[in-house]
Amino acid sequence: MTDTDTGIASLGVQLPPLAMDVEVLAALRGVDPAKLTVGLGCREMALCPEGYDVATLAAGAARRALARWGGSLDQIGLLAVGTETAKDMSRPLSAWLADALGLRGAVRSYEVKHACYGGTLALRQALEWRWSGAARGKAALVVAADVALYAPESPGEPTQGAGAVAMVVEAPRVAEVSRASFSYSEPAFDFWRPVGEAYPRVDGPLSLECYVKAAARCFEQLAAERGGREALARLHAACFHVPFPKMVKKAVAGVGEALGLSDAETAAFFEQKVEPTMRWSRRAGNAYGAALWIAVAQTLAGLEQGTPIAAFSYGSGFGAELMTLTAGPDAAAGAWVAEVEADLASRTLVDADRYLALRAAERGQGIQ
Ligand code: COA
Repeated sequence: MTDTDTGIASLGVQLPPLAMDVEVLAALRGVDPAKLTVGLGCREMALCPEGYDVATLAAGAARRALARWGGSLDQIGLLAVGTETAKDMSRPLSAWLADALGLRGAVRSYEVKHACYGGTLALRQALEWRWSGAARGKAALVVAADVALYAPESPGEPTQGAGAVAMVVEAPRVAEVSRASFSYSEPAFDFWRPVGEAYPRVDGPLSLECYVKAAARCFEQLAAERGGREALARLHAACFHVPFPKMVKKAVAGVGEALGLSDAETAAFFEQKVEPTMRWSRRAGNAYGAALWIAVAQTLAGLEQGTPIAAFSYGSGFGAELMTLTAGPDAAAGAWVAEVEADLASRTLVDADRYLALRAAERGQGIQ
């Protein structure tokens, strides 16, 4: 195998052991539950118990991906973690992960930050490191991991969540990833977290506007290069970054408009190729950088080798990138599905009192 024979060799997903039904949050905050379930399209939000954090999630996902890969740690030459849940302003989250895995030595280890786009950037860098030949046969371990918490009682609170997805980049056994990708960026303050502040500040309407614009601009580039709207028809599915499912629906409307689709064509594209990719997302909530890759992991599982899908990544600030993936020989078996289903089946759904205690414990850990 050569470095150019590159893609996702193995993947692992980790969801935390707690979750809350958004209808319980609606009752606690005195809002109509339909606003959250219908208006935002949310169902449950994953939560971390005390002592369980983004590093725990990243390590869980990485162990799962590595166990299925079959290679050894000394074959890893690059470790990149995309996150916006910084544990430290200097020390990279990859150092916590390397410690948990016992990974050290001739490894480039670092953290990538670009809001919810960081994990995708880490993946692209790992792929390009292999394609360039700089990897000299070594594999990369890439992890997208986040815990999304908003200030209690803020409008973003129902869209919280958590999760991690780890990918070993080497032979394309799970998926090939297109070398060409379609990027769009523009500076904006749509969602940001000033240094020293525990929770993000969000301009909800602006973040929606930026996200829709980025999706339209990226899909326009894909269509221009790959045969117009037929490029959408060839895709088996299109996965999006999922801040909350309604936002994805609005982005698809923007894409349809940009590509000149009729309302009926846009609705069919959403219902057949996008909505089904968000089954796990509705249970995880917004896992920031992991959110897109949770949808990709769900979608790849069960696909016949050669089946094409799209992945659209968005990070506030803002930057976006669209790429296509093609299912590899291990996608059909989807070995990671059993782990996700076990995570979902075994987790505890918390009530309002437990939720308030968890939020109070954040303050006890120095988060104000
Ligand atoms: N039944 C059904 N739907 C209802 C409803 C009810 N009782 N009450 C409100 N809604 C709908 C609204 O019509 C709206 O839908 P629409 O946008 O299709 O019109 C939706 O619920 C949300 O209502 P809104 O009043 O806009 O909610 P809000 O002011 O509380 O804030 C967000 C919504 C999205 C702005 C807020 O949740 C947020 O900031 N989320 C985080 C955004 C984010 O993640 N940004 C960065 C990601 S890239």
